[in-house]
Amino acid sequence: MHIEVRGLNKQFGDFHAVRDVGFEIAKGHLIGLLGPSGGGKTSILRMLAGLESPTSGDIIFHGKRVNDLPPQERGIGFVFQNYALFKHMTVFDNVAFGLKVKKQSKDQIRDRVMQLIELTGLKGFEHRYPHQLSGGQRQRVAFARALAPEPQLLLLDEPFAAIDAKIRTELRTWLKEMIERVGITSIFVTHDQDEAIEVADEIMIINKGRLEQKGSPWDIYKNPQTQFVASFIGESTMVEQVERLRGFEEAANWPGTQALIRPEYIEIGKRHEFRIPSATVQGRVKHLHFRGSEWMVEVEVGDIKLITYRSLEKDVLQPGEEVHVLIHRAYLFNDNDTWIMENKLKEDPMPVHI
Ligand SMILES: Nc1ncnc2c1ncn2[C@@H]1O[C@H](COP(=O)(O)OP(=O)(O)O)[C@@H](O)[C@H]1O
Ligand SMILES: [Mg+2]
Repeated sequence: MHIEVRGLNKQFGDFHAVRDVGFEIAKGHLIGLLGPSGGGKTSILRMLAGLESPTSGDIIFHGKRVNDLPPQERGIGFVFQNYALFKHMTVFDNVAFGLKVKKQSKDQIRDRVMQLIELTGLKGFEHRYPHQLSGGQRQRVAFARALAPEPQLLLLDEPFAAIDAKIRTELRTWLKEMIERVGITSIFVTHDQDEAIEVADEIMIINKGRLEQKGSPWDIYKNPQTQFVASFIGESTMVEQVERLRGFEEAANWPGTQALIRPEYIEIGKRHEFRIPSATVQGRVKHLHFRGSEWMVEVEVGDIKLITYRSLEKDVLQPGEEVHVLIHRAYLFNDNDTWIMENKLKEDPMPVHI
């Protein structure tokens, strides 16, 4: 189902939880709603589902405004973080629940339930009760139950938040495959960027009730439109007065800007490791953290602290060691705009508008 939302607002008393949110989702797409807790993600889902009414704005499913349609007529499946399965019902009966409500025949219900149990890899578990399942299996049941009545839109609100990290990673891949196979338009809410990046075709970043940016994970990572997005996606260091860094002096011409530098934009090492040592600045290694596949290095350049990574293949650095630091580029922000500025000793000095 094609989804369109226009000028959506939700106020709880004086509190403005969702502010002027608008987006479209193409049929069959899987969208990730990503943002910090309290940002308004659940409120957006609840308005789509009809569990909460918007203060203003339009919700349009398949070209038709559905603001006044009751939840049961919207064709929506919902999976929550703690989707309490019916404890006294077996897996089979849980999945069948929505179908019984729809008054389908016994045979129809059985066929549909067994099809979903097979699809979700729960074959052999149909007579178990929820307490006899792992957290991951329970969420598979919740997923099968939501899909049973053949909804047109699937809403998943932090479905894996309460599950162990390792199982959660497996479930992400599983969910993505399932949704692709079923071909249902879906919205997946999470506060975990890795989860959103891995699962969703496209991400919407929600913060303080606003939609900050919508795009593919790679596009958002490469071209963050706001300071919030840049600092939320990926790792980075905020730098005050970036013009103090060699190669970035031109930033002084954009007063009021703040800079943000990602770890992968920084190289550190011994002098001979650099092709243009004159583009580097002196720094001192503060801490080294072994990350399993690389070193994470905290380095100080004057009073500016930066974070970067270093390959395990290179000479091992020591805390306190003097190193050369090459900063390839920085993001600059003011209230309205974002630029990428390259180190001018290395490349084109003009900031590029993004
Ligand atoms: N029924 C409600 N009454 C009052 N405030 C609410 C209600 N529901 C949500 N809020 C507030 O709206 C904000 C957004 O909440 P929510 O949509 O749950 O965010 P998220 O899902 O991103 O964590 C929060 O500050 C929350 O406290
Ligand atoms: Mg929430």
